Amino acid sequence: MTAARKVRKAVIPAAGLGTRFLPATKAVPKEMLPIVDVPTIQLVIDEAVRAGITDVVVINGRHKGAIEDHFDHAYELEHTLRERGNTKLADAMSAISTMVRLISVRQKQPLGLGHAVLCAREAIGDEAFAILLGDDLIDNDNDPGIAQLARVYEATGAGAIAIVEVPPGKEHMYGIVAGERDATGHMRIREMVEKPKPGTSPSRWAIVGRYVVPPTIWGYLAATKPGAGGEIQLTDALREVSRSPEGLYGVVVEGTRHDAGDRLGYLRANLAYAMKTDLRKDVIELCREVLATADKP
Ligand code: UTP
Repeated sequence: MTAARKVRKAVIPAAGLGTRFLPATKAVPKEMLPIVDVPTIQLVIDEAVRAGITDVVVINGRHKGAIEDHFDHAYELEHTLRERGNTKLADAMSAISTMVRLISVRQKQPLGLGHAVLCAREAIGDEAFAILLGDDLIDNDNDPGIAQLARVYEATGAGAIAIVEVPPGKEHMYGIVAGERDATGHMRIREMVEKPKPGTSPSRWAIVGRYVVPPTIWGYLAATKPGAGGEIQLTDALREVSRSPEGLYGVVVEGTRHDAGDRLGYLRANLAYAMKTDLRKDVIELCREVLATADKP
């Protein structure tokens, strides 16, 4: 790896409307919904920090304050907790505000994921960077998902995006990629289609919300015209990266992936993360209880 290729910065777009979680997302961004007791975006930032990322640009929408406040000091709260002798919790709250250098940028209108990322251009500058979506969680305590992609970029200079194989018939719900594996063991992407019509998908490999992209993506994003729904799609700019000399790899990331962007996936993520806490025994008991009564009228 060359030092110049070290991935140090990340963008987390959090300015979507979150329509699938209304009314919960009426006054709170989807990224602040908790997985057990930790906001999704904190889990995502923790993944980035564990991968060596030092600067995070959060793209905020209409609920600007909530995320900024969460990663700022809460002096009154910390003071009260300390006064009450709850030093451990006070320290934990204080640690959240120092976990990363956070820059907040406003996307004035939700014009799409590609547009949201483009809003970070000035803050990121001319270097490769990571993109992490709060919708997708990749649970891996030892080797963070985004670190696995950063290593591919750092070794090859090509962009790298996380892919998973989805069940037959589900392709139309995802951005789909196709290509062939090369000597690196990863897929050199040749084709990208956003939500292909049923029966037309070139593969079952779907893009999930983790990317590491070279700075050339800025030019492609700036040139991208609004597509479906008037939105500027990230997939269109990624397709240009895949056709450029650097190219783009699809990487099967190790870890348990949760699609926390839909209700069932969100519930599943909550149960899976709860099983990793002191709640484990009680969660198993609770599931048994629910199953035992599920068939009763
Ligand atoms: P989604 O399509 O999953 O988010 O975008 P959404 O639009 O908020 O959700 P639904 O479909 O209405 O329920 C993926 C990510 O991109 C961000 C979202 O916040 C989410 O994390 N996003 C999307 C933006 O920041 N700006 C946009 O204009 C669109």
